[in-house]
Amino acid sequence: MPTSQSPDRPEKQRVAAGALSANTHLLRWIEKMAELCQPAAIHWVDGSEEEYDRLCTGMVASGTFITLNQDLWPGCFLARSDMSDVARVEDRTFICSLSKESAGPTNHWVDPFEMRKTLKPLFSGCMRGRTLYVLAFSMGPIGSPMSQIGVQLTDSPYVVVSMRIMARIGREVFRLIDEDFKRVVPCVHSVGAPLAPGQQDVPWPCNQEKYIVHFPETREIWSFGSGYGGNALLGKKCFALRIASAIARDEGWMAEHMLILGIENPDGEKIYVAAAFPSACGKTNVAMLVPPPHFQAQGWTISTVGDDIAWIKPDAQGRLHAINPEAGFFGVAPGTGAKTNPTAMATLSRNTIFTNVALTPEGGVWWEGMTDEPPASAIDWRGRAWTPELAKTTGATAAHPNARFTAPAHQCPTIDANWEHMNGVPISAIIFGGRRATAIPLVYQAFNWSSGVYVGATMGSETTAAAVGAVGKVRRDPMAMLPFCGYNMGDYFRHWINMQRHLSETPRIFHVNWFRKDAEGAFMWPGFGENMRVLTWVFDRVRGSGRAKETPIGWMPRYEDIDWSGLEFPKETFEELQAFDPLAWRDEVIGQEELFITLHSTLPKELVFERELLICRM
Ligand code: GTP
Ligand code: SPV
Ligand code: MN
Repeated sequence: MPTSQSPDRPEKQRVAAGALSANTHLLRWIEKMAELCQPAAIHWVDGSEEEYDRLCTGMVASGTFITLNQDLWPGCFLARSDMSDVARVEDRTFICSLSKESAGPTNHWVDPFEMRKTLKPLFSGCMRGRTLYVLAFSMGPIGSPMSQIGVQLTDSPYVVVSMRIMARIGREVFRLIDEDFKRVVPCVHSVGAPLAPGQQDVPWPCNQEKYIVHFPETREIWSFGSGYGGNALLGKKCFALRIASAIARDEGWMAEHMLILGIENPDGEKIYVAAAFPSACGKTNVAMLVPPPHFQAQGWTISTVGDDIAWIKPDAQGRLHAINPEAGFFGVAPGTGAKTNPTAMATLSRNTIFTNVALTPEGGVWWEGMTDEPPASAIDWRGRAWTPELAKTTGATAAHPNARFTAPAHQCPTIDANWEHMNGVPISAIIFGGRRATAIPLVYQAFNWSSGVYVGATMGSETTAAAVGAVGKVRRDPMAMLPFCGYNMGDYFRHWINMQRHLSETPRIFHVNWFRKDAEGAFMWPGFGENMRVLTWVFDRVRGSGRAKETPIGWMPRYEDIDWSGLEFPKETFEELQAFDPLAWRDEVIGQEELFITLHSTLPKELVFERELLICRM
């Protein structure tokens, strides 16, 4: 076997064979990575449908994919992950900036030189027996001035087919690299499960040891050991949030964990709104909201631009414009049903990859909340027999709580006409929100930009199954970016404050909480489509017609400021839902202060003043 030092450099020929790019930097990097990872083969991903079909067929043969009943679920497949590889691993996510201060106290920092020393032996030979896929992708519409390009090297065909849904990939992107000399963010990904000659593969290869590593200065991503979601689809959280947030700070724009939606009133006036809620706290559901019948009859419509990530930039006139850098939805399956989110159900009805949901006897999929009646029996996400009776006695769920669907955005019936607009859509309002059982009202509006930044910076939310770890614990999750900000959180707040200087018009800022509970532990607010009543109030506030009353925390709608047609919602319940409890807010401010103490060395003084003002008003 020739070694990496051999003069004829066999990797050079292997990489050149089938190359879809002539960029010498790119080719040399791939050669180096192939020498390191030692894959059995190299495949340049052209992004075609034939290639997609071939990869899916291959995964059916290898046991990674189960073909669903094609009459019921055309073009759909089911994957079951390894039991240990079901969500993002925040403890194993690293920001390796040159200085620890740049990463800040809320990120796991490791010295970049140390980290490279750790990664080298991990990646050495890690792709043995597997194919290395060369996957070029564009985050954002091809050719948009707001888009960014990456190349992911991966040994996971599941990642390749998922990325074909989630991003623009293949030949067109290589053309941009070759002809427009677009800067590329290099991403290396391995499931970390090399195969010895003759060794039988498993359906979901992965490694117990996981590393999700970002080098913000050199703009590189290295991911080892996981095949799941944000750990492995590197265009998503790793690039479009952690690396992009660092790029955005340098270039004067914003990379945010936000959905983008359009709201149009019966007069045809339309605004776009971006909303940041933490993982599994309702972004997809708001992005695809179906207005209650009364609003539909009046002519209100909601349209979807994106459900997870927004890249937001001031235009030449100083108005914020946003693109959705993604091309698909990687959505939470449990809780998604014909009643709660018919738009999502229509979107995922075909050409969708399901991961960790249950399989029904007809070869369909099911998860908790999809229908009121569970199927009489199913195979659960781990491949074991499941019945509703079993669920009652053991509490076993059929689907994993973080089971996901991967579906193309263009299949969404409410997709916005401008969702791929090269310059994005204008943003008139920003909504922050968390999952809070107590204290936090349904909706309030911040007084101005800096008080709005304070509202976002001090957001709290209960943890969910989207990340490995305890579920239901309230933590501070500023702007829903705690796990996704690629640099010092205090500097990130400073960037938010500074953005105002580049704006001729600042978006109005709101905070919502769909998840407040009563003494019995039941949700006080029906949520889902009924959230439209909050959105129309937001719309009216933005347009200057909506009424509100001033409270210590911000502007709030009175009962009569909300359109209640078609919903029986007593005034007393609304008052409870909106209640501002000074004692509970005392604890809230103390909780906010804990984060500020952690960030003391970089915290903008504007936020300290905002806190003082809040305390005085209280
Ligand atoms: P990520 O993809 O992890 O970023 O999540 P997301 O923010 O898009 O959350 P998603 O819309 O998928 O919702 C997560 C869970 O919250 C699902 O189980 C939903 O059914 C549930 N949910 C969403 N909106 C509401 C709501 O208004 N009320 C209630 N009670 N539950 C909701
Ligand atoms: C999230 O956790 O916020 C997600 C899912 O959107 S993942 O892509 O796994 O990060
Ligand atoms: Mn998300």
